[in-house]
Amino acid sequence: MKLLLTFATLALAAVAAANQVQAPAKVVCYYDSKSYVRESQARMLPPDLEPALAFCTHLVYGYAGVQPDTFKMVSLNENLDIDTAHANYRTVTNFKSKYPQLKVLLSVGGDADVDEAAKYNLLLESPQARTAFVNSGVLLAEQHGFDGIDLAWQFPRIKPKKLRSGWGSFWHGVKKTFGTTPVDDKEAEHREGFTALVREMKAALNLKPHMQLAVTVLPNVNASVYHDVPSIINLVDFVNINAFDYYTPERNIKEADYTAPIYTPQNRNPLLNVDAAVNYWLHSGAPSNKIVLGISTKARTWKLDADSEIAGVPPLHADGPGEAGPYTKTEGVLSYPEVCMKLINPNHQKGMRPYLRKFTDPSKRFGTYAFRLPDDGGEPGLWVSYEDPDTAAQKAVYAKSKNLGGVSISDLSMDDFRELCTNNKYPILRAVKYRL
Ligand SMILES: *[C@@H]1O[C@H](CO)[C@@H](O)[C@H](O)[C@H]1NC(C)=O
Repeated sequence: MKLLLTFATLALAAVAAANQVQAPAKVVCYYDSKSYVRESQARMLPPDLEPALAFCTHLVYGYAGVQPDTFKMVSLNENLDIDTAHANYRTVTNFKSKYPQLKVLLSVGGDADVDEAAKYNLLLESPQARTAFVNSGVLLAEQHGFDGIDLAWQFPRIKPKKLRSGWGSFWHGVKKTFGTTPVDDKEAEHREGFTALVREMKAALNLKPHMQLAVTVLPNVNASVYHDVPSIINLVDFVNINAFDYYTPERNIKEADYTAPIYTPQNRNPLLNVDAAVNYWLHSGAPSNKIVLGISTKARTWKLDADSEIAGVPPLHADGPGEAGPYTKTEGVLSYPEVCMKLINPNHQKGMRPYLRKFTDPSKRFGTYAFRLPDDGGEPGLWVSYEDPDTAAQKAVYAKSKNLGGVSISDLSMDDFRELCTNNKYPILRAVKYRL
């Protein structure tokens, strides 16, 4: 009898394990609606999303915001999102009729809401403000056919630290002197407020059929400060960890480095990488299948000058953000197609303009970079840390090896949605999907 029971238990365990393996991996596709107002090749309209949707389990529309006085969740651009001329909210949720597997969520925050950012903290401190936010958010989502809400909360960020020049001793020195100075002197209150917000949002969404709730951890938000994992993990459908932008030209003006390594490169802060971010959640008791690993399609670029080390190996001296790309037109940022078009390629006509040389990472731990040195004519150099289909696939392999719930792509508009690199649309998204 005992033996039989043991067998039965083992069989049940095996079935449970098989079920877990069979749960389809999530591919959460973020759509940054700001891409609607970019120019020429970077302008993305909702129909451009279609070739991606067969690969996505979720489409997340970014971003709604918080109205400063009322704390209501509102569209940040009603003309684009809601008014009948464009009605993008409705356009994206209508994709569900053609792609029935797709869940479409409305995301709030995500660094897109720049007007009075302190309101995100204030909201957490007040039960009345939370109620106003929750009620308006659920209504906004429901009225436009969304399947739920993603809280991409704009918490205060970890302060950037300098890495170079005797990093090891410098790091320890910093920790002793300033390491305990919080960026936010009400950390504990905001942590509790966020737990309450997640609980209240979940309760409100539960009153509607099939509404999902997700939490996105934005880059450089210290999850161990703001996220009480055991209290929130059972309330959410997934947690999306945006484990990238650890080093950016805005945060690290004089120093270029890998923006989103999987593991710690030598002599770097051991907490600023994908593996550390994921392990924080797993070690705090989150079931691995609730965790979604965020992959960025946005390259980060720095200008190189005469003081930059000519080997180009990171970390290296830089001189602020690299020049804006031809389409995305933002200093320090290039889309994946803008990078691929700058890479040295036998088909490019030589001598037209300086191209970038690409350096891959055979260890598959840190990522790819590309650069060119400044030239004698005074043209500055450029150093680029970016994700390409190969490194994105490595992250999908990592996610799979950790039994994570899936991966997310932030965002579709910076992937090559026009086939400018190869004759495939969305090569980063595809590479990820095929590895899950
Ligand atoms: C995050 O906060 C914890 C304290 O809760 C601290 O030990 C850790 O160093 C912080 N992480 C970073 C990357 O600053």
